[in-house]
Amino acid sequence: MKTLKFLFTTLLSAVFAVFVVTACNSQAPDSASSPGASPAASPAETLTMATSADYPPYEFIETSSGSEEIVGFDIDIAKYITEQLGFGLEINNVDFNGLIPALQAGRADFVMAGMTPTEERKQNADFSMIYYEAKNTIVSKAGSNLTDAASLEGKKVGVQLGSIQEGFAKDTLTGAEIIPLNRINEIVQEIKANRIDAAIIEDTVAKGYTASNPDLEFTVIPNEGVAGSAIAFPKGSELLAQFDPVLQEMIDSGKIEELVTKWFSGEPAS
Ligand code: ARG
Repeated sequence: MKTLKFLFTTLLSAVFAVFVVTACNSQAPDSASSPGASPAASPAETLTMATSADYPPYEFIETSSGSEEIVGFDIDIAKYITEQLGFGLEINNVDFNGLIPALQAGRADFVMAGMTPTEERKQNADFSMIYYEAKNTIVSKAGSNLTDAASLEGKKVGVQLGSIQEGFAKDTLTGAEIIPLNRINEIVQEIKANRIDAAIIEDTVAKGYTASNPDLEFTVIPNEGVAGSAIAFPKGSELLAQFDPVLQEMIDSGKIEELVTKWFSGEPAS
């Protein structure tokens, strides 16, 4: 009886051992593929960028190709940097005022939207170095003679909600009625329809809109405080330390300059 029991146990262990070995073997190809594989074989991590695609030539929706692709200066920079760092890139269109909240909510890994790194924004996001400087302008109906801050006294002035232009207008144009709107093309339409008198818009963007709308003109006004564009990240993001050296390299090698020429001196987008 004892022998029988011994035999049975031995047999059982043997069967179990075979099972374990088989199980291990069948797992082996899977587990071996990750540590030993070349990095190119593993799928690249995709970063999500949020932008407000109402801002040609920085970012806008290209419709002429039939598809609705977001293109522009910022998009080319984002593509270059993520490619250099080996990331995939997905771009989401969000109203400008919702961009920093999108970072805070973890819905975006970074924001590129011609965004200026103001002290207030730095409380809620980390910023890269500035990669492009800009100036403000007054956009108005051609011949309206609204060419300086004083001339906007008593006028309706459009600005993009949440932009530094809104801050500038509220602080500086105290005698004007400031009308914040979500999208730059809405602001342009309001001027064309005479529902507002003027708008404060960044120079390169104003240049594009006035070129495609000959009934409008713009005048550059002196800068107050910080201007220019930087990339925004969620506070504490490790991406900042990876992005900044690539941006620096783009500045040093003339790559940024090449993109400035491509987007800012060609035919303006509408
Ligand atoms: N530079 C300005 C700012 O930071 C305006 C940027 C607006 N950008 C946009 N994509 N609409 O407030």
